[in-house]
Amino acid sequence: MKTHKKQEKIIQMFDDIAPTYDRANRILSMGIDISWRKKACDKTYDMISSKNIDLIVDTACGTGDMMGFWQKRADKKKINIKRILGIDPSSEMLKLAKKKFAGFDFAQAQAVDLPLPNESADILSISYGIRNVVERQKAFKEFARVVKNGGFVVILEFTKDDKKGFFHSLKQFYLHKILPFLGALVSKNYEAYKYLPDSIEGFLTASILQNELKEAGFKTEYVKSFSFDISTLLIAKKCL
Ligand SMILES: C[S@@+](CC[C@H](N)C(=O)[O-])C[C@H]1O[C@@H](n2cnc3c(N)ncnc32)[C@H](O)[C@@H]1O
Repeated sequence: MKTHKKQEKIIQMFDDIAPTYDRANRILSMGIDISWRKKACDKTYDMISSKNIDLIVDTACGTGDMMGFWQKRADKKKINIKRILGIDPSSEMLKLAKKKFAGFDFAQAQAVDLPLPNESADILSISYGIRNVVERQKAFKEFARVVKNGGFVVILEFTKDDKKGFFHSLKQFYLHKILPFLGALVSKNYEAYKYLPDSIEGFLTASILQNELKEAGFKTEYVKSFSFDISTLLIAKKCL
């Protein structure tokens, strides 16, 4: 399938599942993603070591949850953020995000073409989104364009792992046999939740991701895998 068609199909799928996305997420993740999201924000704030931040951009923001965490964790650490902007190409996801977070700004766009000036963002995050960006290297170059020198890209993603053993088998069983059915039950869209494990299998390991970021001008400063490597947090600094 052509790149453009493939990307449009993915975005359409998110439009379709948007109304049930939050409910399905809560059930499927059993809430464990909350601690991963908090860790991503806290660790980045520790690394940035400034109490004043001009702009945080959350790409592939979906219904906006990560933006909420950026704000809450900043409040806790007495960090002042001038603007939090959520960007997503799915109009249905954005509609819900705007309802949930009236105080934030939003824009409809893809990660490869962000409506932002050069070197304007202190932090650019993408949580469980980069897997869905077909032209990933192009997106990383775009991230390098909009992030300030010394600023950070923060990625949370389900990365592929090549490990064996009991917990790995359990994880594979959950992802391939249970999750698509639970997801289909809530969303009435089996295809979308079959896409999730398939897209993880077709995705990268954390080390390949780091190499790609390096090529785009980012140095990975922090990598952590959570909950038997289900999810990986990667924080990379833009260095010229
Ligand atoms: C699994 S959701 C993640 C949403 C949110 N970040 C979260 O953590 O819950 C993936 C999101 O990626 C968005 N997406 C798909 N293709 C994209 C692209 N090319 N550029 C930016 N976002 C994209 C979808 O519309 C969807 O909202």
